[in-house]
Amino acid sequence: MAKVDVLLGLQWGDEGKGKFTDLLSEYDIFARFQGGPNAGHTIVIGEKKHVLHMVPSGVFNEGTINLLGGGMVIDLILFKEEVESLQQSDPGITERLLVCQNANIIIPTHRLLDGMNEKISSNKIGTTKKGIGPAYTDRTQRKGLRIGDLFSIYFKEKYYKLRKSHEQLLHSNNCNEEVLSDDDFFAAVDWFLESGIQVVYSGYYLRKQLSAGKKVLAEGAQGTMLDINHGTYPFVTSSNVTIGGVCTGLGISTKMIGKVIGIAKAYTTRVGEGPFPTELRNSTGDRMKDVGCEYGSTTGRPRRCGWLDMVVLKHAVQTNGVDEIILTKADVLAGFESLKVCVAYRDEDGNVYNDMPFDLSEKHMPVYKELPGWGDISDIRESYHIPIGLTGYIKFIEETLGVPINIVSVGPERDQNIKTRI
Ligand code: GDP
Ligand code: IMO
Ligand code: MG
Repeated sequence: MAKVDVLLGLQWGDEGKGKFTDLLSEYDIFARFQGGPNAGHTIVIGEKKHVLHMVPSGVFNEGTINLLGGGMVIDLILFKEEVESLQQSDPGITERLLVCQNANIIIPTHRLLDGMNEKISSNKIGTTKKGIGPAYTDRTQRKGLRIGDLFSIYFKEKYYKLRKSHEQLLHSNNCNEEVLSDDDFFAAVDWFLESGIQVVYSGYYLRKQLSAGKKVLAEGAQGTMLDINHGTYPFVTSSNVTIGGVCTGLGISTKMIGKVIGIAKAYTTRVGEGPFPTELRNSTGDRMKDVGCEYGSTTGRPRRCGWLDMVVLKHAVQTNGVDEIILTKADVLAGFESLKVCVAYRDEDGNVYNDMPFDLSEKHMPVYKELPGWGDISDIRESYHIPIGLTGYIKFIEETLGVPINIVSVGPERDQNIKTRI
């Protein structure tokens, strides 16, 4: 039986998963396994920039099937908007979209609860306010609505019961100022039921397709450091974004996992609150932000920027069993005479941390190694043209992690890549 290959972000998200999922056009089926509209995956095709939130990034490849897996949380209002926008260039797209019956539904009050939590909590996370945390909370509390529930005659009853429980929470925290109408939600439900988008159980569906020899790519959202278990808790998202999430989110066994492709930026970014040891709150960080256009694809917030962190990458590579790496945005670092790379952390008492500490915080200061920089590389396509500085940078990362970097990305466009191995 064929296996499911996986593409995962190795940092705090926004590594370029959209660009490379789209480019891996040899796959027949693309599947998201977790997350929801908190994700923003950018694909640049010619002059046009597309940002996908719930629809898998394989959708621009003709004839591919794109599956929203059972581990996801789906906002039907935003999903409708996303699909309708895609239909402008591909009216038949709904025939190539599948949704797993087990995926949970984000209802409008989930977004209000997300806002409320951010307002009242002493630990502000800086969430995307898309209702992700509250929707996963309802799943864990076993009171959430699932896509399969849309076919039940009791759906409206269940919806109002859930909405009421949310309103009670909002009222008890004096967050009842916003009056929500259910009209948009039920319009989105009606649209979904009439759209022709098939509802399946992702486990059965994928096993059948794999048996028939179809090639499947699971597309991660967020990145390892935002994983609910393995990230910088509590400053994380609410799902397993790492390799285990592929099995639980799609309903497949560990034995069905094939190649694991990790994707990392040549530097580090983070949106929202939380520890970030290599963050540069200075003109160097601003330069990365400006040259790299580091503004959130979902919320437009400026991304915090800093040097590459090998403690993060080592943690991510080991947690996920990464087989190969795609290194993105190497072009953004062009023009620096030298670059810093964090190889460990040190605290005030002189303790050195080579592995990710339990309580990563401001007390963990980066220990840097300095490496030579490189010039403009955005027009380079052949590995033998890679400048010596970048060759050294790639070699250093490969040797530290014991994993090959097979592709270096030098711009947002589909063709701006260098294959390092022929
Ligand atoms: P994702 O969430 O991992 O899919 O990443 P995002 O789409 O949120 O953010 C990545 C941003 O970098 C997008 O605007 C991409 O178009 C852009 N991008 C991807 N690869 C490269 C690259 O190699 N160089 C540059 N300059 N931009 C890139
Ligand atoms: P992609 O898939 C970057 C961050 C938020 C916040 C934390 C929790 O585009 O890489 P949430 O709304 O999920 O409860 O927010 O996680 N976050 C992301 N950061 N890229 C993402 O997705 C993110 N999705 C969530 O900024 O810090
Ligand atoms: Mg993104």
